[in-house]
Amino acid sequence: MSRSSSRWTLSGMTALVTGGTRGIGHAVVEELAELGATVYTCSRNEEALNKCLQEWSVKGFKVNGCVCDVSSRLQRVKLIQNVSSAFHGKLNILNQLCNFWEWEDEKSPQELWISSAIKNKN
Ligand SMILES: NC(=O)c1ccc[n+]([C@@H]2O[C@H](COP(=O)([O-])OP(=O)(O)OC[C@H]3O[C@@H](n4cnc5c(N)ncnc54)[C@H](OP(=O)(O)O)[C@@H]3O)[C@@H](O)[C@H]2O)c1
Repeated sequence: MSRSSSRWTLSGMTALVTGGTRGIGHAVVEELAELGATVYTCSRNEEALNKCLQEWSVKGFKVNGCVCDVSSRLQRVKLIQNVSSAFHGKLNILNQLCNFWEWEDEKSPQELWISSAIKNKN
């Protein structure tokens, strides 16, 4: 059964996938987008990110993203501002594909991201 004829759909859903330019994160972005979700992703490498965004655009996927090093709290805050703006404060799916145990500060990513992401939710 093709995806377009599948009864499973994520149309209308929004997703944040950190680390979407390679490996598992890249596959997750494609899976979610193929099912109809609107996806936001990030990585540290602008060139790799732009290449992925271009390829996803050609495939008709709704994927946007920005450069962000998630080990930096300031950059995570900026990422969440971007996500909140892109999704109008509505985030349905959070998928983290970065090595968050290497992060420098004490706040858990879930705590920061989710609280920030739903802050402006209507
Ligand atoms: N592959 C496996 O077999 C396996 C098994 C168990 C667990 N894992 C875990 O699953 C996760 C994904 O692994 P993977 O092998 O698929 O991919 P990966 O090569 O670790 O890269 C994942 C993605 O994360 C981005 N990334 C890495 N550090 C980042 C940071 N500080 N800020 C923002 N983006 C960052 C990378 O882009 P940039 O480098 O351009 O930022 C890339 O897009 C990792 O946490 C890994 O430890 C993997």
